[in-house]
Amino acid sequence: MESKKIVVGNMKMNLLAGDISEYLRKINSSNLGEQVVICPSNIYVPYFLKQSYKVGVQNLFFRDSGAYTGEISAAQVASLGVKYAIVGHSERRGYFRESDQDINKKVVVTLKYGLEVILCIGETAEEKNLLKTARVLKRQILNALRNLEETDFDHIVIAYEPVWAIGTNVTPTNKDIMDTISYIKGIVSEYFHYEDIPVIYGGSVSEKNIKELNSIPNVSGFLVGGASTDAKKFLKIVEVAVKK
Ligand code: 13P
Repeated sequence: MESKKIVVGNMKMNLLAGDISEYLRKINSSNLGEQVVICPSNIYVPYFLKQSYKVGVQNLFFRDSGAYTGEISAAQVASLGVKYAIVGHSERRGYFRESDQDINKKVVVTLKYGLEVILCIGETAEEKNLLKTARVLKRQILNALRNLEETDFDHIVIAYEPVWAIGTNVTPTNKDIMDTISYIKGIVSEYFHYEDIPVIYGGSVSEKNIKELNSIPNVSGFLVGGASTDAKKFLKIVEVAVKK
């Protein structure tokens, strides 16, 4: 049976308070449905929850609590009613120097508090040019998913986001995405004996290319950056990907 696709909007560090009010006016959460998750900046999370959106955070810290100024914990996130956390986004790996080990700790704590993990992996342009994509993805997967219980895998979605496709209006071909998704599923199956882990695609997904990307047979959904901050564009993407 084909499982339903999900669309995750990663708003990153965008939009001011007034923009959020307008966005909420434009998109009633009932127009989105169960398979859509919005990940706004943390300060806006309660606004989306109040309007019955399914909400995720873009990042969290791996400690349970304590003196970590500026950070938020998985326990806090869960206590608010948030259901998802993005872990290992390439912007966290790059700008904030998150290591595979940090990301593994974040995956573990996210699952510990009953949240669903959206684990981001992806190669840089340089790694792609050096033909290292397979090796990089394998390393990211094996390190991120250490020390998990078998049942934890039911709560993980992998987001394949080639770094060179983020914010560039360039995407891999459908065939390349399809092959990479098969490869990712194969790694998880071979090393963790978990079959058919859902893999979503992210990187320059837009209202213009969603129809084509949505025809990739093994894609379980999309992680949308820039276009998720525009209500009209995001609605169009949702319409194509999850509403048939
Ligand atoms: P864009 O959709 O803006 O390329 O961003 C993708 C992304 O990084 C989502 O997490």
